[in-house]
Amino acid sequence: MTALLEDKAIVITGAGSGIGRSAALVLAGHGAKLLLADVDHGTCAETAELVAAQGGVAKAVKADVSLEDDVRSMVEAAVVTYGRLDGAFNNAGIDGAFESVADSTRENWNRVMAVNLDGVWLCLRSEIRAMLATGGGAVVNNSSIGGLVGMGLGLSAYVAAKHGVVGLTRAAALEYATRGIRVNAVCPGTVRTGMYEQVVATGVVTEEEIAAMQPINRSARPEEIAESVAWLLSDRASFVTGQALAVDGGLVAQ
Ligand code: NAI
Repeated sequence: MTALLEDKAIVITGAGSGIGRSAALVLAGHGAKLLLADVDHGTCAETAELVAAQGGVAKAVKADVSLEDDVRSMVEAAVVTYGRLDGAFNNAGIDGAFESVADSTRENWNRVMAVNLDGVWLCLRSEIRAMLATGGGAVVNNSSIGGLVGMGLGLSAYVAAKHGVVGLTRAAALEYATRGIRVNAVCPGTVRTGMYEQVVATGVVTEEEIAAMQPINRSARPEEIAESVAWLLSDRASFVTGQALAVDGGLVAQ
């Protein structure tokens, strides 16, 4: 039986840490050849070394997903390296400041939107162009439970951007449904990563309160998100498009 992602050329953004690094290890384990991108080149290169150490194939590039030229070069690098682009996990994101709507700042709003929504749009645009030229593919955008519900943590810019990611996912899925490109989103619950540690450090919520948000009563391990991404990117999900898959321990089912 062939591996889930045998020989598929896949881009992962935000691959230097957390869910992105885990996705690199999991997708490579399923046979994918990876183009890893992050604004922090050092950590991204470390991820590529970790993939190589487990026998996988990965190249690391520096790219800020909010910058048009960086994103174009990132996708070009994948096509030059592997001859085509079969898949993409648009994962890079930031949480931004914790602030009430009345106290929120233009600076925070702009940065969160630039990375979390403009970034996904820029990636999607370049990736779809490459996939149309090389025979189709599959994209997974990393939204959040904050793309499905309001969360109530003082992260309104984050929540607005992540809802935008779900809308963009659905619109793109419909546009390319007959042209061999599937577009889906994952909406993780709380995941134990650097972003998670930052939220805990603010003191806004305790680890116990974060765990209790989920009926399963714990936060996810990054690999639990990465495995759903691997499946969505694989041909085994060939009839799945336009979905916002909550990988959330039951949170939005409540
Ligand atoms: P993380 O902070 O561990 O990793 C994020 C990575 O993205 C870092 O390597 C960072 O350098 C990179 N990055 C940040 N801005 C970038 C930019 N402009 N261009 C390229 N790379 C950039 O965070 P984590 O938790 O792994 O988050 C990954 C994604 O998962 C984000 O989109 C986040 O919103 C989403 N998510 C995370 C959840 C959590 O509880 N950790 C829950 C739901 C969604």
